[in-house]
Amino acid sequence: MSMMSIRAATPRDREAIRLVEEHAFGQRAEAGLVDALVTGGDAVAELVAEEDGQVVGHILFSRLFVQSGGKRFPAVALAPLAVEPSFHGSGIGGALIREAHIRLKDAGETLAVVLGDPDYYGRFGYSHGRAERFESEYQGDALQALAWGDAPATGKLVYADAFTALAA
Ligand SMILES: CC(C)(COP(=O)(O)OP(=O)(O)OC[C@H]1O[C@@H](n2cnc3c(N)ncnc32)[C@H](O)[C@@H]1OP(=O)(O)O)[C@@H](O)C(=O)NCCC(=O)NCCS
Repeated sequence: MSMMSIRAATPRDREAIRLVEEHAFGQRAEAGLVDALVTGGDAVAELVAEEDGQVVGHILFSRLFVQSGGKRFPAVALAPLAVEPSFHGSGIGGALIREAHIRLKDAGETLAVVLGDPDYYGRFGYSHGRAERFESEYQGDALQALAWGDAPATGKLVYADAFTALAA
């Protein structure tokens, strides 16, 4: 019987994480983004899902600031999320999101932002309504947010430098 478990990523997982990201997205950009975020010290929560000792899923939340009136409110950005294609649809992506949310809440985080399919992320509490007043170059239906406590609903979203490099 197979057993799925979720744990914090460690430095020894880097190569396995790179492969899961490449397989899930069919390109190298997201794997490169992960490396850049981790190297830049911007990772806030990073988890892997293991199936029989093999890394088959990965999620990363990085530091994001909501900037308003000279103040910066710390929030987190969910990106990327990847599951090895042969394991799609077995609940691994959802389990990674839920476990990461628990850990982020425990750590005192109150706001998460994601850019993705509302049909998928809506299942986990994200909504465009919570994000629609943020100023962002990614503003649109795919920009969603989830707040667990007091957090701003307006302000400019400032992502980690690695995202700027990705868009360049
Ligand atoms: C998106 C992804 C992480 C989901 O992982 P997963 O382990 O298959 O997800 P779960 O098993 O928790 O959930 C599967 C459900 O989500 C649905 N789903 C998956 N991707 C979806 C999407 N983009 N939009 C809407 N629904 C989606 C599936 O149809 C399935 O629905 P069901 O429960 O009704 O059968 C995975 O498909 C993946 O790695 N995709 C490629 C990379 C990617 O697009 N990442 C997210 C963008 S950052």
